[in-house]
Amino acid sequence: MQRKKILITGGAGFLGSHLCTRLINEGNDVLCVDNFYTGTKDNILPLMDNPHFEFMRHDVTFPLYVEIDEIYNLACPASPIHYQFDPVQTTKTSVHGAINMLGLAKRVKAKIFQASTSEVYGDPKIHPQTEDYWGHVNPNGLRACYDEGVRLVWPNALRFL
Ligand SMILES: NC(=O)c1ccc[n+]([C@@H]2O[C@H](COP(=O)([O-])OP(=O)(O)OC[C@H]3O[C@@H](n4cnc5c(N)ncnc54)[C@H](O)[C@@H]3O)[C@@H](O)[C@H]2O)c1
Repeated sequence: MQRKKILITGGAGFLGSHLCTRLINEGNDVLCVDNFYTGTKDNILPLMDNPHFEFMRHDVTFPLYVEIDEIYNLACPASPIHYQFDPVQTTKTSVHGAINMLGLAKRVKAKIFQASTSEVYGDPKIHPQTEDYWGHVNPNGLRACYDEGVRLVWPNALRFL
């Protein structure tokens, strides 16, 4: 199997740090990008000495120019207390972050995975939700910075590619 160069944004977070470990163990080189908004150095400490792991402190709301084969865009605070702390930054992280990562994927022809959340359905009126269900989201609520940010990325993401 050929070793791939894989970018994981939000790689110092809960899901991202486990994904870093998994993809390195599967024989890949991982570039972990994070601004430590909610993630911590402790999460990636066991990987710091691994020659197949590289860390870059970077905010995904700014463009990133790296050469990679695959992208996992996980950068976004996920818990209400964190994403409501700075709603504008949360929205920028979801929207600008995804646009920057989709642009990078397009430039280097990388496969991209975009994290989403069931919050795109808000308080759904249909159970279980199907892919064509638009959801029932409050655009003015405390959760809107997260829900609407992710909603904008969700249906539109593929149109960038
Ligand atoms: N954990 C869950 O149950 C769950 C459920 C649904 C969706 N998700 C999604 O999965 C992804 C990861 O979730 P998690 O639970 O690991 O959250 P987390 O908060 O532990 O990790 C998010 C990471 O993104 C980083 N980050 C935030 N803003 C950034 C920015 N502007 N630039 C660079 N890095 C930034 C944080 O520092 C953190 O390390 C998120 O996109 C989240 O919305 C998670």
